[in-house]
Amino acid sequence: MAPSVSPHAPWWQSGILYQVYPRSFQDGDGDGIGDLRGVIARLHYLVDLGVDALWLSPIFTSPMVDFGYDISDYTDIDPLFGSLADFDALVTAAHGLGLKVVLDLVPNHTSDQHPWFVESRGSRDSRKRDWYIWRDGQPDGGPPNNWTSEFGGSAWTFDAATGQHYYHAFLSAQPDLNWRNPQVRQAIADVMRFWLRRGVDGFRVDVMWHLVKDADFRDNPLNPDYTPDRQPYERLLPLYSTDRPDVHDVVAELRQVMEAFDDRVLIGEIYLPPEKLVAYYGAGLKGAHLPFNFALISTPWSARAVGDLIARYEALLPSGAWPNWVLGNHDRVRIAGRVGPAQARVAAMLLLTLRGTPTMYYGDEIGLPQVPIAPEQVRDPFETNVPGYGVGRDGCRTPMQWDGSAHAGFTAGEPWLPLTDDFASRNVAVERSDSSSMLALYGALIALRRARAELSLGDYEEWPSGEADVLAYWRGHGGRRMLVVLNFSDRPVTIALPSSAAGATIMLSTMMDRAAEVAGDRLNLRGAEGMVLDLAPTAI
Ligand code: GLC
Ligand code: MG
Repeated sequence: MAPSVSPHAPWWQSGILYQVYPRSFQDGDGDGIGDLRGVIARLHYLVDLGVDALWLSPIFTSPMVDFGYDISDYTDIDPLFGSLADFDALVTAAHGLGLKVVLDLVPNHTSDQHPWFVESRGSRDSRKRDWYIWRDGQPDGGPPNNWTSEFGGSAWTFDAATGQHYYHAFLSAQPDLNWRNPQVRQAIADVMRFWLRRGVDGFRVDVMWHLVKDADFRDNPLNPDYTPDRQPYERLLPLYSTDRPDVHDVVAELRQVMEAFDDRVLIGEIYLPPEKLVAYYGAGLKGAHLPFNFALISTPWSARAVGDLIARYEALLPSGAWPNWVLGNHDRVRIAGRVGPAQARVAAMLLLTLRGTPTMYYGDEIGLPQVPIAPEQVRDPFETNVPGYGVGRDGCRTPMQWDGSAHAGFTAGEPWLPLTDDFASRNVAVERSDSSSMLALYGALIALRRARAELSLGDYEEWPSGEADVLAYWRGHGGRRMLVVLNFSDRPVTIALPSSAAGATIMLSTMMDRAAEVAGDRLNLRGAEGMVLDLAPTAI
């Protein structure tokens, strides 16, 4: 077992991250779209919930073709969200409340409206031509190679004015920057310093594994496992367009920029299997502090699959690397939509009792489901471009539901995406007054994790429960131990507790009704029940 980190662990190890999707958190000006004034108004909610840091998806100047992941000015705030003054006010207010603020950094691509790209596409001898990825087409007029966009179609768009194609891993309105160009690296380092000096506590780096492409632009190979029911991007294996060995030099450079400032965090968005993901900690751990671990999002929801995943990930972690876990984000189906409302409680307990920094996604704590989106309500360009595969992300981006008033207290106007039908009962105000609500469970889990170093910083060791549907593990720190027991099935299960756990106190049940009960040598779990047991005889 790796030794526990010191009690003086940095905030991004001991703490909990919370993702705010700014369009959907709180609208402050009645235009139906969330904004910075709205976020400021809700900071107390985050403090009450007990999280340590908020990560804001992009708030920068943007034509919003990909809702802010298409940036046209890296160092200003889009008027939709507010102003730089509003941003400064947010950072000041958050820091005053003890909350850290993490921004989204989108270095892989800009908007096609960014002045850099406008200049680059201006002529073949533009000073910024090489800031983007321009290539000649095939002699027959076809694109330079077979690479495809994650959002459908060729990843190359022909620019008639200069007779070359530019590369875009996502929309054609999101041309990729050329990270082999040192001026690009310098320009993004300057962007980082701009925000770090303004007080931000770190960055979540968008599509980090995409940053560097094959120098020879070799064709990607066919995916032998492809079946036509899968979205077109999966037809090829993105072997040469992503996760190139030299990306790690770039990540190390990004980290270098952070190192000039105290106590900041570098997080990477990386969709790769754990074996490849862990390389993003970098040689000598000089890469990302937290390469986002999304494996729970795609692993089948069973005790064995999840237990095996944890073991595999723990075994792969480089010595000294700090783990992390994510259950949801603005690109993936909501956890409650994927595993159902009962198991979503088990998932909450899992996320908040695992070893490693948890990242929560706004709204999961009130059990927001994947909201059905009617065809005329579709906003996501991914869904518009690649219809019929269920790739649309609008259903996980719907407004936060604060109370039972009109539009759930999210906006005085018309919300940009629909609310849930049951928003009158599924909202913060109602769940606050219900001691068994999802919000109450999240609050209790977070409070327990904050109170007990076993959960935030302790060791992890699986305990074989003897029941196929029950995942159980020890968390230990400073000579104290807790046992977490999770029933992944919807039927009751009885397990024989290890002798060292007999007589333990139930600290928390996902059903919020058995706290302080003392366990005997057997533990009866109801369907979809999870529990945290404390081996110390006294309650906190
Ligand atoms: C990341 C973002 C996603 C965006 C894409 C392109 O995956 O999380 O929302 O569409 O990058 O920028
Ligand atoms: Mg607004």
